[in-house]
Amino acid sequence: MTRTEGGYQWREQLNVGNDLIDSDHKHLIELINRVQSCLGASEGVLTSAMNEFSKFLDVHFSREEKIVRAACGEPLAQQIYESHLALLSTLRQIQKESRGAASGSRIQQINGFIGDLMVHLIKQELLMKPALSKFSPSFAPG
Ligand SMILES: [Fe+2]
Repeated sequence: MTRTEGGYQWREQLNVGNDLIDSDHKHLIELINRVQSCLGASEGVLTSAMNEFSKFLDVHFSREEKIVRAACGEPLAQQIYESHLALLSTLRQIQKESRGAASGSRIQQINGFIGDLMVHLIKQELLMKPALSKFSPSFAPG
């Protein structure tokens, strides 16, 4: 993962070998870049970028958990599920506290969260790769 002036860039090394997950991750990076480009914008603009990001993160995590459970089994599925829960709880907290909070600390919280999510994408989700390689890239559990 590299962060340039234009934001984070998706790289081949992030490929986990499942089309649904990989295309979700690309979209996630676009939404992260949008949030970061709105950090200096008005409260309303930032809140709406954060809402879009958070809504998609929910959808993506559920989709990914189904795929991981079906393709990789335990204990990885549980590990990823728990890590998703922790990330979502931090994000909810940031969204709840954001009203009226100083913008400097809000920016720090958001950037901190994005950093944690990136570490998750790089370190944890790549653990799915060996198991996913035994399935077609178009694998989607019913
Ligand atoms: Fe993911």
